Amino acid sequence: MQATQKEMMYEGKGKKLYKTEDNGLIISQFKDDLTAFNAEKKGSEQGKGILNCKISTEIFKLLEKNGVKTHYVETIGEDLMLCKLVQIIPIEVVVRNVATGSLTKRLGIKEGESLPFTLVEFYYKDDALGDPLINDEHALILKCVQSIEALDELRKIGRKVNEVLREFFDKKNLILVDFKLEFGVDSTGAILLADEITPDSCRFWDKNTKEKLDKDRFRQDLGNVKMAYEEILKRILS
Ligand code: TMP
Ligand code: ASP
Repeated sequence: MQATQKEMMYEGKGKKLYKTEDNGLIISQFKDDLTAFNAEKKGSEQGKGILNCKISTEIFKLLEKNGVKTHYVETIGEDLMLCKLVQIIPIEVVVRNVATGSLTKRLGIKEGESLPFTLVEFYYKDDALGDPLINDEHALILKCVQSIEALDELRKIGRKVNEVLREFFDKKNLILVDFKLEFGVDSTGAILLADEITPDSCRFWDKNTKEKLDKDRFRQDLGNVKMAYEEILKRILS
């Protein structure tokens, strides 16, 4: 599909969004920047944007093949993705299989412990508030969505994405520890999976060594950040 990059409409921590000649389509450019802890920690890794674009492309295609509706249209450059324009729902949907990160800090669950069932959490997408954990009633009071049914749909899609990706990455000898999803509403009112799915927004551990192959290498100063992202892409394509 032909699309021309017009003026920038938004710059986030990991991507820049551009308008196109089509009102219903945007171009998402994946950045090399890395941030953590609500952007208190900043860095950059040359080539990360290209890796994330390739990884996200493969994952969106896999999800679409499995019946998950996403904003993905086409990858039109090495770091450029053509996407449907959506109104982002201000909720970060976090899906967890194994305890780590903020879950262990908040509740004292042991690091690395497999959860008895898949946990889905909602965080309010608000940098000034530090993206706080919220429940359904908070989400309704904050008018993140119109109805409890919409929250149930986010949970349902989150679990479906987990089912597909967990099985896929298991075959690549990777544990899908947890991940964050964002959703948007298109012009018809349909909820679409949006944003990105990359090692910036997921945690992957090698099944045998438990080596971290995601942004935790940057968060925790473990080194070899780019190598980890390259390894994820290599295994996805294997
Ligand atoms: P957490 O353990 O820090 O809450 O992170 C859970 C998952 O969500 C993890 O895979 C990283 C991802 N995540 C983001 O993509 N963006 C964020 O701002 C945060 C806090 C987490
Ligand atoms: N992406 C978030 C930030 O930059 C936090 C994180 O992923 O750890 O602040």
